[in-house]
Amino acid sequence: MDSQWVKTALDSVIAEEGDAGFQHLSQGLPPKQVALNVVGALKQLNAMARGAVPEYNNEWVTLFYNLWYQPKQINVAYRVINAMIENRGDQNNALSTSGALYVADFGCGSLAMQFGVALAAADAISRGQQLTSIHIDAIDPNKPMTALGESTWNRFVKLVSESVSQNQNHWVSCLSSACGMMEYGLPGHPDVDTITERIRSNPNEERWLSALHTVYQTNVGAVKSSLSDLCKTIQPHAGFITTFKQKAHLARIVSPFDEKFYVLHPLREIGGGLNNDGCQKITEVRHSIYKEIESSGSLQEIDAADSSRTRFFLGNLVKWEPKDPRYSIYIKR
Ligand SMILES: C[S@@+](CC[C@H](N)C(=O)[O-])C[C@H]1O[C@@H](n2cnc3c(N)ncnc32)[C@H](O)[C@@H]1O
Repeated sequence: MDSQWVKTALDSVIAEEGDAGFQHLSQGLPPKQVALNVVGALKQLNAMARGAVPEYNNEWVTLFYNLWYQPKQINVAYRVINAMIENRGDQNNALSTSGALYVADFGCGSLAMQFGVALAAADAISRGQQLTSIHIDAIDPNKPMTALGESTWNRFVKLVSESVSQNQNHWVSCLSSACGMMEYGLPGHPDVDTITERIRSNPNEERWLSALHTVYQTNVGAVKSSLSDLCKTIQPHAGFITTFKQKAHLARIVSPFDEKFYVLHPLREIGGGLNNDGCQKITEVRHSIYKEIESSGSLQEIDAADSSRTRFFLGNLVKWEPKDPRYSIYIKR
């Protein structure tokens, strides 16, 4: 991967999307309400790593999710795919052993898995592998998350194609081919019948089932039941479940992958991917949001502790490195 190019590109598109989203959401609101919405969203997201479930159907929460977690989650997705390829013992390190790939991404959120698949597919093409098609079903009931993911994805694909016409970077032209072959159902909840029919008509596809950072204490039952149905329907060749460290035990509970048929690779750390330096442009957008709510005088009108926490959160450097993730990778025996 041309990681420098990828980091600059993702940093730009996530920052642009975040800036546009903030302007759009703030439009017509009194400054104090804007400040309250920002403070509320940041508080919810801060509580998330400790197990609280944020309101994913709240656009303010989605906005700040993207401006903090999205770069890390794309990294998580890219890393689990690479670790699966390394661990399955295929001497060609093939992304898809048949050339055609199907991914059901459960709890897809802002499509981090789709970005990760695109990067891994570009690597495969640059290694000379023949890929014929990639289809992703992105499953998530929370429209603001998927909508923000889609518009960020569209910006990214546009940037990739402009970059290919402007320079001769071989890896970026592989990325352009990968993006070009990706087809995806409308993000949302494709039903099991639709998925069953797709799989029946494409029996040669390699199939993956992922649930990245989707399980919480409060949705264990629902996630377990949906993953079990999807696993029966898809009979995946590989499965990915990731969580924050504090929720690692939940990954085992919801896993639909029977260890008679799947080898589990539980990994605490996976290197590579997108690392070092921070996301400068995303960080700048967060700084400018802070300046805007601070200069309107609204922060002074709200709780002093909230106000200083907000300065702390929005002042932080946004990093590529996910904080304490736990990865469970299942490979069909
Ligand atoms: C922390 S986000 C992770 C999103 C994405 N997988 C990622 O790694 O960035 C959790 C996502 O799980 C989704 N989710 C939670 N419970 C769900 C359920 N029962 N069915 C489908 N999606 C669910 C939420 O809507 C949210 O978008």
